[in-house]
Amino acid sequence: MKTFYVTTPIYYANSLPHLGHLYTMIVADAVARHKRQQGIETFFLTGTDEHGINIERAAERAGRTPKEQADYVVSYFKKMTAEFRLDTDHGGYDMFMRTSEPFHYEGVSELWRRAARAKTPKGKDAIYKGHYEGWFCAPCAAYKTEDEYAKPTEAGGSPTCLIHETPLDRISEESYFFRLSDYAEALLALYESRPGFVQPESRNNEVTAFVRGGLQDLSVSRLKTSVSWGVPVPDDPDHTMYVWFDALTNYITAIGFGNEERERAVGFEKFWPALHFVGKDILRFHAVYWPAFLMAAGVEQPRAIVAHGMWLDPNGRKMSKTLGNTVDLDVLSRHFPIDAIRYFCLREMVFGQDGRFGYEALIDRTNSDLASGLGNLSSRTLTMISRYADGRIPSGVISEDKLLLAKRTGVDTDETTISGFIEHARDQFRQHFEAFAFSKALETAWTVVARVDKMTSDARPWELAKDENQKQTLSAVLYRAAETLRWLCVLLYPVMPTATLEIWTQLGLANSPGSTGTPAGIDPAKLKWGELAEGTVIGEVKPLFPRIDKAKTMAEINEPEQEAGADGRGDRVSVEREHPLGVQATEANAVPNAPIRKETRPSPPMTSATEADAVPGAEGVTSFIDITDFTKVDLRVGEVLTAERIPKADKLLLLTVDIGEEKPRQILAGIAQYYEPEQLLGRKIAVVANLKPRKLRGYESQGMLLAASVGDEGKPVIATFTEDVPNGARLK
Ligand code: MSP
Repeated sequence: MKTFYVTTPIYYANSLPHLGHLYTMIVADAVARHKRQQGIETFFLTGTDEHGINIERAAERAGRTPKEQADYVVSYFKKMTAEFRLDTDHGGYDMFMRTSEPFHYEGVSELWRRAARAKTPKGKDAIYKGHYEGWFCAPCAAYKTEDEYAKPTEAGGSPTCLIHETPLDRISEESYFFRLSDYAEALLALYESRPGFVQPESRNNEVTAFVRGGLQDLSVSRLKTSVSWGVPVPDDPDHTMYVWFDALTNYITAIGFGNEERERAVGFEKFWPALHFVGKDILRFHAVYWPAFLMAAGVEQPRAIVAHGMWLDPNGRKMSKTLGNTVDLDVLSRHFPIDAIRYFCLREMVFGQDGRFGYEALIDRTNSDLASGLGNLSSRTLTMISRYADGRIPSGVISEDKLLLAKRTGVDTDETTISGFIEHARDQFRQHFEAFAFSKALETAWTVVARVDKMTSDARPWELAKDENQKQTLSAVLYRAAETLRWLCVLLYPVMPTATLEIWTQLGLANSPGSTGTPAGIDPAKLKWGELAEGTVIGEVKPLFPRIDKAKTMAEINEPEQEAGADGRGDRVSVEREHPLGVQATEANAVPNAPIRKETRPSPPMTSATEADAVPGAEGVTSFIDITDFTKVDLRVGEVLTAERIPKADKLLLLTVDIGEEKPRQILAGIAQYYEPEQLLGRKIAVVANLKPRKLRGYESQGMLLAASVGDEGKPVIATFTEDVPNGARLK
């Protein structure tokens, strides 16, 4: 059986998890899920790097032992991975590695011993004892050469690290060295013979240039008296292993190198070599040092080292605690669905390059691509199936005798036009995904969303529904949309595991007999158009990605003190998030960009001191009209035939409403923040039919619907009928 092994870096156990860590895990998680879909036995490893001077110091500052410090940080990482559904329980990583585990000590010692016995390609000892004199950056866990630090500003001072801007440690002590300088040719030959060993190509060029520039031997131990928290050098316990030798080796010790118990539990033989995902910040350690260590020890090279770019803030600055521009994972999980975060990370960052992360951009993408895009396509299709096809997946076949009729409506009677388009998109999606071009893969998937959305609108299902002779045409359109959704679930599962399973359930596929499992176990390459079974009873239709109210959410994010509930944990906010309501439902509210307060309050009634004010029980009513005034308003019963959002207008829905006239009316209603379009389909409502038409956002609104205005915010509740009423009936 084919196997696949994917890793993230193991994260330093001296600081709490942040967006950067989350990102690499999302990437590795998505790739692992994609492989599992193909039936490939996959092992996904992540974990923590727990040794070294930096952790020792962090522990000291916190008044803990290094192990206690590591336990503390690990508990946060585990909480984060569970919250973001990246852990084993949610189908994510298979193992959380910790370098403080005894089996790791055994494995690293074994690798060291093998390297220590080895000769370099030039016939010298690969590891030798010498004396190190130079500068060391504890946060980087790396020795720095002259071009990697800033010279001290005053005589006798320490130089500072160019990355961390912190003083370097002067080290002058006995040390073991790894004879890296003898491995340059062998490394260059490796890069040359294995295209794709370092990815993307631009990073491969960087690494190659670095190695061509000549390599210096690497100090791979510290005296125990300087650094005690680490793996002792075999047979020389006065030395502690260099933390990168120890850390990189986690990739093989986790699965059984040098330890029989782990070998039985996972299997080095079975899973190695791995694909390592890393940030570009640690590429050199992975693409130069690690392959050289493995060469010396005679262990097979990794499958590939794939480096991604870094997340910057919206202004393109590096994220740092000092600048206060880091992304707080608590804020992310409190305000955004996890799948929206996953989607954004993979869609927004062109893999390999740096990307900018901003909450506003995340809200915009969630609203446009997920709420209005995929989410809307799903709810719209399923709502129509429940309404026009009795809640069952209809047949996609148009019989010979109905073909001509169908053609007249403009519907393409050749199903292979759409299925061909989607098959091609699937192939492209797979190619991009396999090449880690996640952004392009998702762009491709969204061409499918747009195409099928348009196909559905162009077919005007509400009109087809009125004509018994067009029943098959309507069924075919709905079938195609539903089948497309099934395909999208499979393609998008690795990116959005929760949302795609939800659509799957709503399509009625979770428990239907003969169902092909779930998207988690379906290979996209094996999807066949038409396998969605006719007659499948669909599930309950629920909105997938509620629109996020940008102004409100940004205000909450920027004013964290208001977020906290009574217990300071922000419960009030998370409750509100499940009911993302915005403005109210009248034509007046449709004024773009008007402040909400003004929008939502009806204009005050004219007050005059008449006896009417004294009428008991008529609180709030301050003047009366007579019946002739009322009859001037032509109120009609209408049925909502279509409802959709308007691009760039957060508050407006565009409705077509049948009020018994020859043509349905087009009506704009400012209710988009309170109602999902699909909730309105088929609803009987009350319409002001003789309101002068007016244009809003380039659309003519030919009437107004009635809604109660509730609460301080003037939340709209649409007036409706509980009994059957014909379209166009007058209200009087
Ligand atoms: N412990 C070492 C890795 C040892 S692997 C054998 C280490 N740890 S770290 O905690 O600093 O994590 C670095 C990794 O976190 C990066 O390589 C990257 O995967 C991720 N990121 C940290 N900040 C990031 C961004 N701003 N953007 C994207 N990913 C980033 O280095």
